[in-house]
Amino acid sequence: MFLRNSWYVAAISSEIEAQLRPVRILGENIVLYRTESGEPVALEDSCPHRRLPLSKGRLLHDSIECGYHGLQFDRSGQCVAAPTQHRIPPTARVRSYPVVDRWGLLWIWMGGAELSDDSLIIDIANFDNPDWRITTGDALTCDCNYQYLTDNLLDPSHVAWVHPTSFAAPGTENTAVEITETDNGVIVHRWIRDRKPPSFYARLVRFEGNCDRLQHYEAQFPCTAINKSIFVPAGKGGPDVRIDEHAYVMFSYHFMTPIDPDRTRYHWLLHRNTDPDNEEVTSMIASSVKSAFIEDRDVLEAVHTGMANATTRPINLGLDTAALHFRRKLEQMIGRESGNAA
Ligand code: FES
Ligand SMILES: [Fe+2]
Repeated sequence: MFLRNSWYVAAISSEIEAQLRPVRILGENIVLYRTESGEPVALEDSCPHRRLPLSKGRLLHDSIECGYHGLQFDRSGQCVAAPTQHRIPPTARVRSYPVVDRWGLLWIWMGGAELSDDSLIIDIANFDNPDWRITTGDALTCDCNYQYLTDNLLDPSHVAWVHPTSFAAPGTENTAVEITETDNGVIVHRWIRDRKPPSFYARLVRFEGNCDRLQHYEAQFPCTAINKSIFVPAGKGGPDVRIDEHAYVMFSYHFMTPIDPDRTRYHWLLHRNTDPDNEEVTSMIASSVKSAFIEDRDVLEAVHTGMANATTRPINLGLDTAALHFRRKLEQMIGRESGNAA
């Protein structure tokens, strides 16, 4: 069900402080906190004695003291004190997970610690470029399997029906897409030419009149998606598009973290190449995009329930091609990782 040897977003970095915060990721209970020097820590949230969640205990400097009988665990998960007896039981330890702060997010490696490599965390080009501006992401908990979110983020057509007041515009319902396999996922893209910009972007683009619009929907294994939107004056779009002073560019990064098979914590970041210091634009983007993602969530939660209760086999449409390919490849990767490859 899940690919374990991968980085997942565990939280927004600023959410994690020197206090215990329980999270559930890939069906595992984990407690997050920061040491006194600010280093992030992730430990299994379960005392090896009677399985009280360690998050119900307290922090003693950089260690956690269990709230039941006082076993203490350091940041590596090793028990360092057993106050009720003379000897620390040699098997008293909890799993510790590699964690890294990057891009304002806290990343956790859910597989074998010896395989963790922080160069595998997605790169965000121009993150420190002062001409660009990140809209700090937000997060939603969605009562649906994470793969419905990646399906959705490989399907540019849905904006015509799910986002009629923001991202929909003439051409979104029926312009053909091209699908490209990559080493780590799949890209669906299309140029919608000589149309009015959708209402969300009409407030942001830097030219009058019709536009050529790129919708680039990319998913990377296991559950990251990148959406690149480029708007240029009509006639200037296409594979050799020039990003000049007229072009409006918005990239959105979507990070789906499975809580369990039926729930997903969904984080995102937005990145634009205009008005880097305009706080009004930044907060407008943040709130409009969150409203749109709530539209996605509402549909996908109902899809999850509908698919779980289907009494006949659901059909597929042409628009599902990339998502089905992505699912198939991911299933093979999960099978290889767990030793159950077909
Ligand atoms: S349950 Fe943690 S010390 Fe007993
Ligand atoms: Fe959407």
